[in-house]
Amino acid sequence: MKQLRLTGTPNEKQRAFFLSTAPHTAYGGARGGGKSWAMRRKLVLLALRYPGLQELLLRRTLPELQENHVRPLLQELSGAVKYNQTQRSFLFPNGSRIKLGYCDQEKDVYQYQGQEYDVIGMEEATHFTESQMTFLTTCNRSVRTDFSPRMYYTCNPGGPGHEWVKRLFIDRRYGPGERPEDYAFIPARLTDNHVLMARDPGYLKKLQRLPEHLRRAYLDGDWNVLSGQYFPEFSPRIHVVEPFSLPNWWRRFRAMDWGYKDPCCVLWVAVDPEGQLIVYRELYVTETLSSRVAQKVRELSLGERIAYTVASPDAWQQRGLPGAEGDCIADVFQKNGVPLLPADNRRIHGWQRLREALALQHDGRPGLVIFSPCTELIRTLPLLTYDEHDHEDVSDRCEDHAPEALRYAVMSRHPKATAPETRGPAAYDPFAPSRAQSEGFRSL
Ligand SMILES: Nc1ncnc2c1ncn2[C@@H]1O[C@H](COP(=O)(O)OP(=O)(O)O)[C@@H](O)[C@H]1O
Ligand SMILES: [Mg+2]
Repeated sequence: MKQLRLTGTPNEKQRAFFLSTAPHTAYGGARGGGKSWAMRRKLVLLALRYPGLQELLLRRTLPELQENHVRPLLQELSGAVKYNQTQRSFLFPNGSRIKLGYCDQEKDVYQYQGQEYDVIGMEEATHFTESQMTFLTTCNRSVRTDFSPRMYYTCNPGGPGHEWVKRLFIDRRYGPGERPEDYAFIPARLTDNHVLMARDPGYLKKLQRLPEHLRRAYLDGDWNVLSGQYFPEFSPRIHVVEPFSLPNWWRRFRAMDWGYKDPCCVLWVAVDPEGQLIVYRELYVTETLSSRVAQKVRELSLGERIAYTVASPDAWQQRGLPGAEGDCIADVFQKNGVPLLPADNRRIHGWQRLREALALQHDGRPGLVIFSPCTELIRTLPLLTYDEHDHEDVSDRCEDHAPEALRYAVMSRHPKATAPETRGPAAYDPFAPSRAQSEGFRSL
């Protein structure tokens, strides 16, 4: 068999990716950062270093798999490593194996059920759903003593898996059973890939010419812009401001999306003399009794004149609360000194009004800004994605409690006055010449 000669030198970022031994390592975040090369090479190096290693390399679709991995691996390993076409596996002389696969359909991951891989590589991880990833982690097992199981991911912003990749590797928010120290992210952009920059300088120009939101995602690796995002116009740079003191005479009000098992979100909003809405405080709590939420709302509002509080219509539905049988949430709030008004819950109309509020107004300022400590609203607003079935609406799978409260807030305001499109009859003017008179003049 031919001796294997691997060419190419990893750049700084690729080197960091190679050196990571975390159980979950993600690489990339932008276009052209040398992701596919790094993934292929890492898996080959591991196969050579650990005899008998079992590795699985996945892409979402078969054509992508062929183009990005099967063909280049055949070239890179030609003659030195055996390729089994039916099994789509590369078999190394030391017993290591790299199996290549794809998961086009959601259920395609189940073909790996019961299989065990020391290493799993998910190429373009944001093309996979969270449940596919969760299932694959159950196949990432090892009985070896010299190697602990690892998953490697490469990724760009955007795609159906945007949210879970962003949560684990960018925002680093973890749930039960997830340990922050298990997750490493190595950001890499096109400018880190000197090989491609030298070989195809036009590619950078191509990315620079993209529409702004795509340029920010693919060139700058900005995870707050993505194609499925419902509010791409939301930008922390424009809409998030450091808190400043609000004059007492500015109108203030509150909006609430009620929830007990799901989070309950209350937003405090002030209106400046030009009508700009300023979200200056948020309360975001889970599994908190309505009486306690109402008390907390009062405490936080101490010394402030609040004109009104709008709340999601379900606050009038829920009954049979312990200790207050027969009371609905709105009754409990009322008894605790926070009277509620039912919010206008027209969803599509409301999201549209929110979109208008985020836009720059005629004075060049956005119609809505958010104080930086309102972290839950700032975190969840850019995560809203389109509903797959109703492209006007937000998907109900999103964490939408703070945005819903914001929608109620915006809907509680009068829409900005605009000039009427058609003129009604002119108002009666006793000094205007009457139609009959003027005609009479002309007829003279
Ligand atoms: N360290 C390297 N040495 C040699 N060629 C590289 C290296 N890194 C990337 N490349 C080449 O640069 C090009 C783009 O890299 P690729 O891994 O396909 O980027 P991405 O998957 O991020 O779009 C490919 O032709 C690839 O072979
Ligand atoms: Mg690639």
